[in-house]
Amino acid sequence: MANIQKAHPQNVQGPLFVDTTCIDCATCFHLAPEIFQELDGKSVVKGQPHGPKEWLLAKRAILSCPTSSIGVSVAPQEFNNLGSGLPFEISEGVFYCGYTSPHSFGASSYLIVRSSGNVLVDSPRFNSQLAQKIEALGGIRYMFLTHQDDVADHKKFHSFFNCKRIIHSDEVNSDTQDCEIQLIGSETVHFASDLKIIMTPGHTKGHMNLIYRGKFLFTGDHLFVDPDLGQLRASKSYCWYSWVEQVKSLEKLAQEKFEWILPGHGGWGYFGVEDSHYKINELVTGLKGQQ
Ligand code: SF4
Ligand SMILES: [Fe+2]
Repeated sequence: MANIQKAHPQNVQGPLFVDTTCIDCATCFHLAPEIFQELDGKSVVKGQPHGPKEWLLAKRAILSCPTSSIGVSVAPQEFNNLGSGLPFEISEGVFYCGYTSPHSFGASSYLIVRSSGNVLVDSPRFNSQLAQKIEALGGIRYMFLTHQDDVADHKKFHSFFNCKRIIHSDEVNSDTQDCEIQLIGSETVHFASDLKIIMTPGHTKGHMNLIYRGKFLFTGDHLFVDPDLGQLRASKSYCWYSWVEQVKSLEKLAQEKFEWILPGHGGWGYFGVEDSHYKINELVTGLKGQQ
């Protein structure tokens, strides 16, 4: 629970506040850029919410914050009357789950609702309200784990939904050794007619990306969207396995077709087929030029 005694001095005055336990995961200022902003490595409230729509954005941020650093000193009636607003649909049956976990540094998880069984991409923090909402959306058949950093409460979701967890064997450790489907090698896996798994070693050795319907690309920590510039970027400072391999994996990804890019951190974006292709090629060219 957020602590008003630790409220950041730069919050604008009002009931909503961020305390100084914030770990700068970028979740809140992506979800509600009109309300939160980053300031010297911490989030602060830059504009107090007004009306139910803005309070809903604030509530999503409160529930999604991995460190419970966002609070309300005196909740207005409209806040108390709101539901969680999570998960919410981004587009065409692809949902953002919220409830991020401190164990994955606030990584985003997404739910793909599909007639042949829903897929949870990476694991949120387990929360019974969230689990019930997911159950109402058809439950979880598969949990796709991009890499070992973002597995969070995978065991609890597995117990609740009896879903099959998909991970690369190079990511398996004592926590994930019971995952039901452990992929090997570097070849693309056509898991179902609408699900394609691309091996993207680099950030970690067995990192994987998922493409749904040739439209939605889930990138884990392989590729990010820069919200200010609308560009794509990859992080050399957070590359744990091999930067050379990561650039090669980006080059491989540039051969694929997708429109939406949904990363593990910092928010998602719609680019369309041509623009996503152009931007990823631009990124690869830039990175190769630096090598
Ligand atoms: S969601 Fe929480 S931890 Fe993440 S930036 Fe906002 S206040 Fe900080
Ligand atoms: Fe990671």
